Amino acid sequence: MSLFRKKSNVSDETIRYGAKLVTVMEPKSAIAEQFRTIRTNIGFMGIDHPIKTLAFTSANVSEGKSTVADNVAVVWANAGKRVLLIDADLRRPTLHRTFNVANREGLTTILTSSVPEMNITNLIQRTEVENLSILTSGPIPPNSAELLNSRRMQDLIASVKESYDVVIIDVPPILAVSGTQALVSHLDGVVLVVRMGQTEKAGLKRSVELLKLAQANTLGYVMNDADADGDSVYGYGYGYGYGYSEEDE
Ligand SMILES: Nc1ncnc2c1ncn2[C@@H]1O[C@H](COP(=O)(O)OP(=O)(O)OP(=O)(O)O)[C@@H](O)[C@H]1O
Ligand SMILES: [Mg+2]
Repeated sequence: MSLFRKKSNVSDETIRYGAKLVTVMEPKSAIAEQFRTIRTNIGFMGIDHPIKTLAFTSANVSEGKSTVADNVAVVWANAGKRVLLIDADLRRPTLHRTFNVANREGLTTILTSSVPEMNITNLIQRTEVENLSILTSGPIPPNSAELLNSRRMQDLIASVKESYDVVIIDVPPILAVSGTQALVSHLDGVVLVVRMGQTEKAGLKRSVELLKLAQANTLGYVMNDADADGDSVYGYGYGYGYGYSEEDE
């Protein structure tokens, strides 16, 4: 089958119930092991210049960004790093559902605050996973794309970078939300999540171009929803590839 066959598969499941934390529920499973491989590979990409701020994005909605970002954050924390996971997908936030915490305040509280030097430590919440802290989206304002591109957002990232070993950001899809491109260009790296059988090849290509134009540091992609022989399945499967090959046309 084609890797990039179109399959309409938009799901609101994670928005309602949160992402599945297979790395917490079944840490010894093959899938959890694949998330550890993704973490290791990202680490390798940062030998010269450590990757401290990292976003997961995708071409379109519902391709597995939140599931991948959250599970990679868990395995990074399991490895003893102090990890902060930020929900910056302000249109389809999920992090508060995944960790079952309140979302009355969060990222948007900081981005819309009139206080110049806000104390953000009380907005960051601890999780049951040791070393893993989260900053949920907060209430969703109408101008969410502008907020992600704000100076405040950049200042926030620069400031949390000092207190954590790794900052992982769940951002909106690159083709659907214009602010994503600029946001990820300020980070140490960005990883594209590709949903097998759903992501369209043209969409993936355009996403890679947009990241290039923004001078973002694209570290590679995660193939989501693939089994070992590359076929599309209902279960989980993750592979990791380095970059996008032009010969793949
Ligand atoms: N490998 C997989 N196998 C089966 N289902 C998956 C897999 N990855 C993600 N899903 C399911 O697909 C849906 C979308 O996943 P997820 O919410 O992680 O994607 P997303 O890119 O963050 O979506 P959004 O654009 O809404 O933020 C969810 O219902 C999730 O449980
Ligand atoms: Mg999501």
